[in-house]
Amino acid sequence: MQSDPAKIGPEDPRLSVRLGPLRLRNPILTASGTFGYVREMAGIVDLSRLGGVVPKTITLQPRIGNPPPRIVETPSGMLNSIGLDNDGLEHFLQVHLPYLRTVPTQVIVNIAGKTADEFAVMAERLAEANASEGGLAGLELNLSCPNVAGGVDFAVDPTLTAAVVRQVRKVWPGPLLAKLTPNVHSILPAAQAAVEAGADILSLVNTFLGMAVDWRRRVPVLGNVTGGLSGPAIKPMVLRLVYQAAGRFSVPIIAIGGITTIDDVMEFLVAGASAVQVGTANFFDPTVSMKLVAQLPQALDVLGACSVSEIINSIRRP
Ligand SMILES: Cc1cc2nc3c(=O)[nH]c(=O)nc-3n(C[C@H](O)[C@H](O)[C@H](O)COP(=O)(O)O)c2cc1C
Repeated sequence: MQSDPAKIGPEDPRLSVRLGPLRLRNPILTASGTFGYVREMAGIVDLSRLGGVVPKTITLQPRIGNPPPRIVETPSGMLNSIGLDNDGLEHFLQVHLPYLRTVPTQVIVNIAGKTADEFAVMAERLAEANASEGGLAGLELNLSCPNVAGGVDFAVDPTLTAAVVRQVRKVWPGPLLAKLTPNVHSILPAAQAAVEAGADILSLVNTFLGMAVDWRRRVPVLGNVTGGLSGPAIKPMVLRLVYQAAGRFSVPIIAIGGITTIDDVMEFLVAGASAVQVGTANFFDPTVSMKLVAQLPQALDVLGACSVSEIINSIRRP
């Protein structure tokens, strides 16, 4: 996989991180579904400051998503039931990828399939496009989407998780990220399945299932009834998952859950994440990811640390 200097430099050597085969100029990325297809944000955010970006999930065919309302604000967070609204793989290849090749940061494409085969078909097309013209630093599998055969999300079942990752691994040669769901009793079996099937990096996590009720009208608020909870409300739960996974596996972890402040970033790095993705916070401050990058050196100074790498998973475990 190419390491385009325009996408990983100029480097402040203190901030750069290496997650297995993936190199980032710093550990701050933006999360899928919260940063559009990047173009929408380019006028507000200096992309050359970010470690990387993850565009909204793409599916093989276009999807219109779930009925409205699709978003509800909650205390310290939000519920969404967008339902993977997107224009499909061909549109991505024709319209978004040519633009994404030009952005001055690492781009990790995020895909969802209805079956393991569908994931593999998409991964193969993206690998071909990348082999000829580049532009993608990694592939993130959104495993928090329903498997049509059984109805459950892929990452709820370690066997399904392994099947998707194994099939994609055969056709995608670059960095491979498995994005898991927190909606399980323990995240460790799916994490283990993903790692054994060939994932290079674990992205932890997608949203937590929840719902909102309009008691006056006695109806669910969301058109889809249930939705995914995100934002600061979920951070302590995600910290636990990252800490657990980092204690069990040596594969690098990207933490995703409520990250808003530099303290959040530092907590996740110390607890075991090698990088973080900023999601919901983009909705109330689209420039938050840039601000976090700018604040990192000072936070390292507080710990007397020479680099981000040196603080990753440095928590004292009892
Ligand atoms: C409106 C919205 C849309 C999202 N869409 C996607 C998506 O298309 N694919 C995906 O993998 N995650 C999606 N997510 C989940 C986020 O990428 C992230 O995993 C989650 O929101 C937790 O991070 P946060 O608390 O920082 O938002 C979405 C989240 C929100 C709030």
